[in-house]
Amino acid sequence: SLSSNIVLALHFASSLALPPASSDAGPWKAPGEGDDRGPCPMLNTLANHGYLPRNGRNISKDMAINVLDQVLNWDATVVSDLYDFAQPTNPQPNATTINLKELTTHNILEHDASLSRQDSGFGPADVFNSKIWNETVAHFTGDTIDVEMATKARTARTIAAASTNALFTFPQLGMNFQYGETAAYQFVFGEWNLDAEDVKNRILTPKNYIEYFSKKERLPTELGWEKPANRLVMDTLQSFTVSMMQLTQTQMDEAA
Ligand code: HEM
Ligand code: MG
Repeated sequence: SLSSNIVLALHFASSLALPPASSDAGPWKAPGEGDDRGPCPMLNTLANHGYLPRNGRNISKDMAINVLDQVLNWDATVVSDLYDFAQPTNPQPNATTINLKELTTHNILEHDASLSRQDSGFGPADVFNSKIWNETVAHFTGDTIDVEMATKARTARTIAAASTNALFTFPQLGMNFQYGETAAYQFVFGEWNLDAEDVKNRILTPKNYIEYFSKKERLPTELGWEKPANRLVMDTLQSFTVSMMQLTQTQMDEAA
């Protein structure tokens, strides 16, 4: 019958999605002994929820694409590129997986001037650092983070790192990646208004989501956050990133 065909079709569609990395995916658990984490608060978070392997190891490209699709509504056009940038952090020849801890290898993807981590010249660049994070949060001057605050926090951190770290470097990849990261948290946790005339209103992000996520490496579901309704594709990421760079330039011109 028609209705049983629909049931069958739905069943087939859901079976196409790869199963989550572990059978206990969903509930948050702090990393246990022997579990590795890295410098990316979101990949750590996804491992803490068991969407990625809780040990933080052996993450394949297919797994990354499927998990970021299912949990965050990120399109493969974004995740595929991101994953490819990360692949060289696995030192094994012809590796087809990445490991969260190895993402910390300095200046492959990990870079100085992170929003919540110290520069590698001062010590481990993978763990959350509350002193650095508090400097970042100081730029979030309301309950809602607008794009102007997000870019100011980004720029201020770069200036602070460059002026205090004798070993400071910022290669081109990190230079671009930093904007991608600042875009990323807004895309995941903010309300999208990408057609807004004023750049600063294009995404409005509840500050409590960001505080919770950054400190706990946990999805802020209990605060009301839900998987974004909008799908993030590469074109959107690129145009938003460009508008943030332009806004940064304006802010620097005004400050000069
Ligand atoms: C930072 C990798 C997905 C948000 C980082 C860093 C790496 C990384 C290596 C460290 C850079 C540094 O600050 O030195 C990846 C890879 C991903 C991925 C390979 C996917 C395959 C995501 C997603 C989000 C995200 C989906 C969404 C919120 C962030 C943020 C930072 C970051 C906000 C900056 C943290 C800080 O500055 O302290 N990521 N990431 N990432 N990532 Fe990811
Ligand atoms: Mg860093």
